[in-house]
Amino acid sequence: MKGRFISFEGSEGSGKSTQAAMVFEYLQKRNIPVLLLREPGGVKISEAIRKLLLDVKNTDMTKESETLLYMASRAQMVEEILKPALMQGKIVLCDRYLDSTIAYQGFGNGVDVAAIKKIGAFATQGVAPDLTLLFDIQTEKGLARTNAVKDRIELRSVQYHRRVRKGYLALAKQEPHRFRVIKVNKGKDEIFKTVRHYVDEFLKK
Ligand code: TMP
Repeated sequence: MKGRFISFEGSEGSGKSTQAAMVFEYLQKRNIPVLLLREPGGVKISEAIRKLLLDVKNTDMTKESETLLYMASRAQMVEEILKPALMQGKIVLCDRYLDSTIAYQGFGNGVDVAAIKKIGAFATQGVAPDLTLLFDIQTEKGLARTNAVKDRIELRSVQYHRRVRKGYLALAKQEPHRFRVIKVNKGKDEIFKTVRHYVDEFLKK
């Protein structure tokens, strides 16, 4: 595939969506063909699955069902939009991807990580990010930055969200060539300088 794939990851309130939008605008201004996607979502079926996943009324969803729904949403998005965009040579920015399932359902909820990776390979057809920007924020600080109206995942305990953060940091350690960890301890414009540096460095390769 001719394109390049950058994913944006992080726990709640890390500001990754804001940074993804800023990178999108930055690349657009440089006339680089770029596409911004979000997970779960991005296409009609995946947005419908997103509603199911985040609905606070779905308290009875099992962790296996939750994992598979995230994967189904991803599988649809990959085939419908991500893979074609990469084949056209676009830079694809994705706000969350498979690492989110490993961190939230695996590390956070105790779903077997090896199983997630196996199902993940099937759902994504092996399409994986070339670069992953991980926005790391202290758990309580991040949760305080989320909306007052919480979704089903945000409502989980601080302990749960701490496990998610730890999971992300463990993943970054396992794959240092792919991950860049960005500490969220400054304003968004300051953070964007670091992000831009990593993106520029990556695109030069
Ligand atoms: P968002 O808040 O970044 O839009 O993501 C929606 C929520 O879904 C967020 O709480 C993280 C969660 N999530 C998972 O638990 N597993 C996944 O695989 C993905 C993509 C998101």
